[in-house]
Amino acid sequence: MRTLITGGTVVNADGSVEADVLVDGEQIAAVGRGLAGMLGRGNGSGDPIDRRVDASGKYVIPGAIDVHTHMELPFGGTFAKDTFGTGTRAAAFGGTTTIIDFAVQSRGASLREGLDAWHAKAEGNCAIDYGFHMIMSDVNEDTLREMDTLVAEGITDFKLFTAYPGVFYSDDGAIFRAMQQTEANGGLIMMHAENGLAIDVVAAQAIAEGHTDPYFHGVVRYPVFEGEATNRVIRLAEAAGVPVYIVHLSARDALNEVRAARDRGANAFAETCPQYLFLSIQDMGNGFEGAKYVCSPPLRPADHQEELWKGLVKDDLQVVATDHCPFDFEGQKDLGKGDFRKIPNGLPGVEDRVDLLHDGGVLDGRLTKERWVEILSAAPARLFGLAGRKGVVAPGADADLVVYDPARKRTITAATHHMNVDYSCYEGREVTGSSELVLSRGKVIVENGEYSGQKGDGRFLKRSPSQFLL
Ligand code: URP
Ligand code: ZN
Ligand code: ZN
Repeated sequence: MRTLITGGTVVNADGSVEADVLVDGEQIAAVGRGLAGMLGRGNGSGDPIDRRVDASGKYVIPGAIDVHTHMELPFGGTFAKDTFGTGTRAAAFGGTTTIIDFAVQSRGASLREGLDAWHAKAEGNCAIDYGFHMIMSDVNEDTLREMDTLVAEGITDFKLFTAYPGVFYSDDGAIFRAMQQTEANGGLIMMHAENGLAIDVVAAQAIAEGHTDPYFHGVVRYPVFEGEATNRVIRLAEAAGVPVYIVHLSARDALNEVRAARDRGANAFAETCPQYLFLSIQDMGNGFEGAKYVCSPPLRPADHQEELWKGLVKDDLQVVATDHCPFDFEGQKDLGKGDFRKIPNGLPGVEDRVDLLHDGGVLDGRLTKERWVEILSAAPARLFGLAGRKGVVAPGADADLVVYDPARKRTITAATHHMNVDYSCYEGREVTGSSELVLSRGKVIVENGEYSGQKGDGRFLKRSPSQFLL
């Protein structure tokens, strides 16, 4: 199957050019001016063009990569509502053609058991390509050995937590030991950095004082608790000589620590998420409605947002991922009525990231369109071992492509979104810019709001070690 996309502006992280894009099978075969004319005159191969797409006035961008999703994550006595089937389909509608989800090691179980369980959930169900990171809940001699095996299988990074005592939490010794192992096996450490022990003290005090509403989930998780843990894990990583990636960074306090670390030459990287750029702790007010916005780290006072945008511009933050972890308001979030500590943590977002960042980033003059592509696809590809295959419109790369209409307006609403969740955090927000045509490895999977792919189109991605380390 050969597809020729003509007349668009090809946007890559390193520049934009008016060019045609030829897709042959699953890969991009050529990018250049006037390909349409050359092929029209015959190139000697005799191969016909099966499909021509007119992209005049549109961008042709690499399919976006969301390196932080939680399909079907067990949390707080329930499960994130999107399956790998529904969640990856929703991602495709929003121009995302790769996710990296988190397989979970339960306490007492092996990494292998966790990984096998996640492979079973995903295999044959995904609309787009997918990979896994591994959440480590137990660091011991057996799991340390297993880390090396996983790196060889393309699971090249490990998430540990200084938050959620009794669930995912690891102490500093365990984190340091996992970091040493990762330094030796060439992987990457991902850290959820909040001081969970201190948070639990303040949370118990708040409940004892009768502050049970969702808003107090935001209040008790002080920004300084995120800043302290971010500094601590980066220092531990420096001591172990391993690169570290801070996930879902939300607070100015944490960003300052990442910035200082990078200034002194540490191999420290960080992502933020749309919710920290566009929403604030004010959204957590309004009684139990605020449960819709309960996630960890929490939404911050609005004055943190401009700092995060600056971090993205200056490359102290390299990635925007979603931390997609949807729970219905009715029947799941309400497990925490009367005690905010019991509200399942997480927000939906996998479908809206590309458009929110275009509307609020590019059109609002905060990001160039090239930086937009960089933080959504090129940098994630480099950091997570997919460079050359994903995150770039270039010959030889997978033909994961989006024809993006930068002028088309749409209103975000749960009534029309494709995520399997009963609300949207951005209900009623109008955004300009949306994906018109989405190709996954050369196959059209979304066209003008219609899904044309099939369950199981997506393949598991065996990833290389992070390319920022080379
Ligand atoms: O609130 C969040 N972030 N839920 C998902 C789990 C995690 O910590 O990433
Ligand atoms: Zn986390
Ligand atoms: Zn997460």
